[in-house]
Amino acid sequence: MAIDRRNTGSEKWERWPGRDVLPMWVADMDVAAPACVLDALRARLDHGILGYTRTMPSFGEALAGWLRRRHGWSIDPGWVVSAPGMVVAMDQTARILGEPGSDGLVLTPIYPPFLRAPTHAGRRCVRVPLAGPEIDWDALERAAGPAAKVLWLCSPHNPTGRVWTRDELERLAAFVLRHGLQVVSDEAWMDLVLEPDCRHIPFASLSPEIAARTITVVAPSKTFNIPGLSCAAVIIPDAALRSAYGKADLGLVPWPNLFGLIAAEAAWARGDAWLDALLSRLRANRDAVHAVVNGVPGLASRLPQATYLTWIDCTARGWPDPAATFERGGLGLSDGRPFDGEGFVRLNYGCPEETLAEGLRRLTTAAAP
Ligand SMILES: Cc1ncc(COP(=O)(O)O)c(C=O)c1O
Repeated sequence: MAIDRRNTGSEKWERWPGRDVLPMWVADMDVAAPACVLDALRARLDHGILGYTRTMPSFGEALAGWLRRRHGWSIDPGWVVSAPGMVVAMDQTARILGEPGSDGLVLTPIYPPFLRAPTHAGRRCVRVPLAGPEIDWDALERAAGPAAKVLWLCSPHNPTGRVWTRDELERLAAFVLRHGLQVVSDEAWMDLVLEPDCRHIPFASLSPEIAARTITVVAPSKTFNIPGLSCAAVIIPDAALRSAYGKADLGLVPWPNLFGLIAAEAAWARGDAWLDALLSRLRANRDAVHAVVNGVPGLASRLPQATYLTWIDCTARGWPDPAATFERGGLGLSDGRPFDGEGFVRLNYGCPEETLAEGLRRLTTAAAP
């Protein structure tokens, strides 16, 4: 049963106030958080005192347990630094890698904050377009000039939903070592791999040499649908980099919210069964979206291997603004342009079955030739 989210201050649902536009855009699911998370929050609330809160070692330990169980990656909990969100952590990271004026390489189309973080820090963002869902290795090599210092990786990739294979990641690792780059690996979608044959491989797990030059950013926000709690984790195996990261907050970055920390720990410690059930639901939704989209003349999408997002190619229709076309038909999708994806829209299928059915009905009607 769909939960009514109107009038809850939801970013997703307040986008078109007073209009009949069904929101299927921003990466936020219409799904309640796991009971283990809600129970932990209630228990903490009942204590009654909500004072300044430090990140306890149990935060890094819960994440280490999760990464070991779900991804076979053993980390030292001491490598983990908490952050009030992944985007903040990416901006903070951008300030300590390379130097002002140096190049950060970004595979596009991509989640828009990747295109901003290097420039916010006075670095250049060098866009390397993907070839469909694949890495264009020649273009990447050409982009890695003498000023290249950082590779910004989104793994799995948003918006294409690609899960990079071990071969691809190893080829990227060789590229990184050959050019002496450091890496920011955003693994926000690590837990939402839908394709049974695909496995998420943490980039830093490839070798100690790669771990030493990689900053991995993760969060419970996508997996457990708690982005409103603003809590993320930054995994920095190298002690000098970790110390530099800590100093780069410039006095602007707050501590994570008490409830974000409580929720993250509960989710990583006890959220496995909830996630497994969610993945089955998302797989069914993904397949339904794929069938409908590819049945509409002039629309095309690839089956996303991960995420709850489908990247829809509308270029054959020649619409000047595809998101506006769908919006007029009562469906709110993400505009591809901020991702560097002109002619594309992104549809979020993280919702109950009946919401999805209505969304797909609107999509078909809005795109009717
Ligand atoms: C690749 C990627 N990184 C980071 C984020 C943002 O995460 P947070 O809300 O925890 O900052 C998102 C949200 O959609 C994302 O897709």
